[in-house]
Formats: sequence, C-alpha cells, structure tokens
Amino acid sequence: DPVPKTVGPLNGRRVAISAGGTREPLDPVRFLGNRSSGKQGIALARAAAAAGAHVDLVAANIDSGLLSALPDSVRITSVESTLELQAQMQAAQADADAIIMAAAVADYRPAERTASKMKKSGDEGMTLNLVQNPDVLVGLVESRCEHQLIIGFAAETGDSHHSAMDYAKAKFRRKGVDLLVFNNVSDDRAFGHDDNAVQILSVDGDEVVASPEFTGSKDDVSEKVIEALASRWECVES
Ligand code: CTP
Ligand code: CA
Repeated sequence: DPVPKTVGPLNGRRVAISAGGTREPLDPVRFLGNRSSGKQGIALARAAAAAGAHVDLVAANIDSGLLSALPDSVRITSVESTLELQAQMQAAQADADAIIMAAAVADYRPAERTASKMKKSGDEGMTLNLVQNPDVLVGLVESRCEHQLIIGFAAETGDSHHSAMDYAKAKFRRKGVDLLVFNNVSDDRAFGHDDNAVQILSVDGDEVVASPEFTGSKDDVSEKVIEALASRWECVES
C-alpha cells in the first residue's frame, strides 16, 4: 500500500532556494571563490521538503555527496558563477511561493575571462580587474510577484562604529526582503563553529524588529526559518 503523505505546514508550496558559494572563472582552470560548503542551504531544502514543499534548489559548487542525500521532492540545478545562479533563480521565481537566498554570492568577478590558460610573464606581480556582480537578491525582490515571500541571509560583525545588529538592520532595509536571517559572527562567535547565533529580522509597521536570539545547528536554524515562513502565510491568509 502507498504510504499516506503527511501534511506539513508548507504542503503544496513551491520554494526556490539558492545554496553554496559562487565561483567566478578567470580562465579554463582557475576561479575566484569562497569557502561556503552549502550545508545551510541543504539543511533548508531538507526542512522545506519535510514540511511538504516542492523545492527548487539552485546549488552553487556543492559536493555531490551532499546533494545526493536530498529527498526526491527537491529538484536540483547546479551552477557555478553568480550570473548562472542569477539566471536559474530568475527562472525558478516564476512559480515560487517563497525564495530563500542562502548562497554565498561573490561580490566581484574578473572583468575578463580568457579562453586559454593565463601565462605568467616575467617576474612581476599582477593586478586583476574585477567588476561588481549584480545583487541577485535585490533583483528578485524588484521583480517579485504579489504574495511571494523573499528571505535573505546575512552574517555580520560589529565594529567601533556600529553593532552587528545595526548592520543587519541596514541590510534588511537595503535588500527589501520580508525576512532576514541574521547570523551574529562577532569575535568569539566565529565561523566554523557547529552552532550559530541567529535572529530573524522582519518589519512591524515602520520598525525593523528582531526575534529573540537562538543558538543551534544548521538544521535547527532551518527549522526556525521554515516555521517563520509558514507563520507568515498564516498571517497573510487569515
Ligand atoms: N546576495 C545576492 N547577490 C549578491 C550579494 C549577496 O543575492 N551579489 C544575497 C546573499 O545571498 C544573502 C544576502 O544577499 O542572502 C546578503 O549577502 P551579503 O553578502 O551579506 O550582502 P552584500 O549586499 O553583498 O553586502 P556586503 O558588502 O556586506 O557583503
Ligand atoms: Ca557580499
């Protein structure tokens, strides 16, 4: 007998998620990239699927072993560069009820990509010319359809002028998202730890408000984000 499907809070919803880290090619064998493993985005895809959603995962340079462990209800499109990720997220936006930008997007890319392998010349150093990548998240917000919920991620540190929270609130405004998952990575709470200290920012009237801080694994964070998403829809639809 077929096993009856359990009904979750995201049943029948389509969620587009970007994950991993983009790589910007310099030549056929070299790129500029970052260390994002994609584990947070994978955890989100799993949590959304477990809540009943149909997931479109746009995966930037994620280990195939991590991807192959995902359930069948997650459709995976693999990309390398920011421009490829942008094209696939725009395509996924068309039928998405929610968009989650968990990918670490390269802010810059080489101005030129050479068709053949770059050669060194003489014994001088070299300067790379970089151009700024488009802000994928802001682009998605600008072309959103009505009722589409859009979620961004931000890891911030404080400095002598502003707290990490100040920067997160400013980013929330600049991006125009519905929710911003703010990961406080100031000094002692550095990258690479298993547990993240996270707050979810949203808007209440004219104010940017933050949820209480919670500490947890990437799976715990994902569950909170999916919960926040589901309760948003309850508000909109009741
Ligand atoms: N993001 C994006 N496109 C970019 C840069 C970032 O879509 N070119 C998204 C990320 O996926 C994330 C959010 O924007 O959801 C915040 O990323 P972050 O790097 O913190 O923001 P930036 O605008 O690049 O600001 P910063 O100068 O602090 O790096
Ligand atoms: Ca950035």
